[in-house]
Amino acid sequence: MDVEAVLQKVLQRIRPTDEERAFVEDLMTELKGIAEETIESPGFDVKPYFVGSLAKDTYLAGDHDVDLFLAFPRDTPLEELREKGLELGKAIAEKLDSYEIAYAEHPYVRAEYRGVSVDLVPCYDVESWRDVKTAVDRSILHNGWVLENLNGRNDEVRLLKRFLKGINAYGSEIYIRGFSGYLAEILVIKYGSFLEVLKNADFMLSQKILDPGNWLKREQKIAMKTVSREADADRPLILIDPVDPRRNVAANLSWEKYGILYFKAAQFLENPSEEFFFPRTQKRGNYLSELKRKGTHLVTLVFQAPDMVEDVLLPQLERSARGFEKALSREGFNVLGWNVGHEGSKAFIMLEVDRREREKVRIKPGPEFFTERGWDFYRKNERVWIRGKRLFAEKTVKEDITEVIVELIEKNQISTGKNLRECIKNAEILLDYVPKELKNEAYLFLSREKWNLKGQQ
Ligand code: UTP
Ligand code: MN
Repeated sequence: MDVEAVLQKVLQRIRPTDEERAFVEDLMTELKGIAEETIESPGFDVKPYFVGSLAKDTYLAGDHDVDLFLAFPRDTPLEELREKGLELGKAIAEKLDSYEIAYAEHPYVRAEYRGVSVDLVPCYDVESWRDVKTAVDRSILHNGWVLENLNGRNDEVRLLKRFLKGINAYGSEIYIRGFSGYLAEILVIKYGSFLEVLKNADFMLSQKILDPGNWLKREQKIAMKTVSREADADRPLILIDPVDPRRNVAANLSWEKYGILYFKAAQFLENPSEEFFFPRTQKRGNYLSELKRKGTHLVTLVFQAPDMVEDVLLPQLERSARGFEKALSREGFNVLGWNVGHEGSKAFIMLEVDRREREKVRIKPGPEFFTERGWDFYRKNERVWIRGKRLFAEKTVKEDITEVIVELIEKNQISTGKNLRECIKNAEILLDYVPKELKNEAYLFLSREKWNLKGQQ
């Protein structure tokens, strides 16, 4: 199928229908009314703003969460903004269907209304980057910039967002580290269309610094500082925020997620298909056959995860997996790869290793033979010999990887995520076996289909 036909078909699925649009508009009008009336009564001096993809008309069909920002005057003390912001959020939410308090840099209210999630976020009413005081203040500026510059290319943004979702590179959350919605919008504005963004996926990397706000001219010193800070941090892309020269919009983009776009863009341009946007569910296969094919082994730790949000849990699991990788390699096992995740509150760490047993002995290098410590070493060990000036001895060790892991955990020799230490102590350690619900995960990991750039299409 030619590329235009593919894009048309995809657009039919991601462009909101007139009916959905009408629903969304109706909902926004209603929410605005409720917000305004709530603001008036106790005499708050606050302006309600819609931000996010709804306000920019860049939301995907069926995906229309509302961001309603409550903008306080800039001279409001931060403490007061927090307190009154939450109070006002609650007062508005009382008139909706239900709500809970959520926490970011400061607390906000997350409500439900007519089946839609509505975030009520207090912020400052900023007019320029110089006024920005909290992390969310910029959103109002983003909104304005996108509305001014998008020029009707809303569907191009939808295509890019859906493409990024399909290839698993969308979302700036810390555990995803992909492209944010705002980053997608800027790229479309900069290159003109979805296809042009894909065609420029490698050019972007060689150019490295994108400056659609022209900050390198307008605020050279500040913008240069941003560039050198972000270059030092080795980011794949430095996109100076068109509304704030101090910020790299792509600061949370990882090399992996950028790399996925890099390859998938080339594949799509070569051979366009709907599959990129809507991938079939991942392959299934047998993890035991994979182990046999590769001649490797699988160690899986399964444990009850502490009650924490994914943003915190996943990085800690990753850190723990790296801790195991390091400790095991010191013990003579080669870790070929690792994989972490959770099924509900059950967390797992999978380690692919080269063998399940090691030699019964390790050679222990000792001190120089003519020293005090040399004599100690000589007395303590059974079988001792000299190579050059140094003493060596045999040390009997545990052979089995499971026992080695138990010992490492007991002796606290693994650096783990800080809230996971205790639960890892109680982990089940499974060798070449996983419980039913992890079978396919184990297959996807061992076969590397989970990350295969050439998979799917
Ligand atoms: P969202 O993540 O909800 O993005 O952030 P979005 O543009 O509404 O896109 P989707 O359709 O829901 O996925 C809302 C606003 O928060 C700011 C942006 O201003 C964005 O418009 N934001 C969020 C960032 O600047 N950077 C981020 O990494 C995340
Ligand atoms: Mn949003």
